[in-house]
Amino acid sequence: MKIEIADKSGYCFGIENAMKMVQDTIASGQKKIYSLGPISHNTQETCRLADQGIVIIDDDEVEKIETGCIILRSHGVGKKIIETINKKGLLIINATCPFVRAVQKKVETHYREGFQIVIVGNKEHPEVIGANGWCDDKALIINDINQLENIERYDRICIVAQTTIIEFKFNAICEAIRSRVNEVVIFNTICSATAERQAAAAKTAKVVEYMIVIGGYHSSNTQKLVDICKSHCEKTCHIETIRDLDLAEVSKYQKIGITAGASTPDWIVKEVLEGMEEQNKIAEENVVVEVAAEE
Ligand code: F3S
Repeated sequence: MKIEIADKSGYCFGIENAMKMVQDTIASGQKKIYSLGPISHNTQETCRLADQGIVIIDDDEVEKIETGCIILRSHGVGKKIIETINKKGLLIINATCPFVRAVQKKVETHYREGFQIVIVGNKEHPEVIGANGWCDDKALIINDINQLENIERYDRICIVAQTTIIEFKFNAICEAIRSRVNEVVIFNTICSATAERQAAAAKTAKVVEYMIVIGGYHSSNTQKLVDICKSHCEKTCHIETIRDLDLAEVSKYQKIGITAGASTPDWIVKEVLEGMEEQNKIAEENVVVEVAAEE
């Protein structure tokens, strides 16, 4: 049996960086560690961190915390929350992804210069809520080209993107604003990690007989990978952990592909590989694991 792992799969740079900061904080012996929202959207990883003492809190619970440290996850938070934490004298572990921080800085600078900020993204996404918090929550949050009613009343607009938004939607909204507003500055702040993971999953799914997508059942980026893989490999399955994998079914195929959602930790992927190796030992077959070559 040959297993091919998509070359870009699992944690993106931002989540990996945040996880490292979390592990370092735990290892430092720090007592009372809080996280503003879950650091990873993976149920198993959230449970593992809870076992290590990480307590998840909401933004409005910050006021109640008296001692310890607060981790800002990769999505980032608004300026006021950071000010509140500082005022309380709590330690901040700022694990905001540098790409998200770049969006916040653009929002803050251009807002100060008098631009109306437009964030192309989902108003409920924590990254967008956080970015809006760098312009006093005054941004227009646009997720659809039909939400541009009366946009011409603004003279100067600065547009940024939620890092995970689809590029053609961003471009279409930017063009529509540009044609109706006097002065428009545009920053395409879309992060390439999502598109790269999707392209790598498609590349692997095209050349295997059976494709395994590992990630949370409620993770939208994992679901997108499932849809992409299914369009190239009819035998695609979506699992959260090794316990969900039908090993007897997998063993019918010789060439298996694996990819994982952006919030799936390596240890879950490793468990799946070990489970498959174990199954093949029983079947007395060799397992060759390869990471697909980057283009
Ligand atoms: Fe950062 Fe891009 Fe991941 S913005 S959190 S590296 S998807």
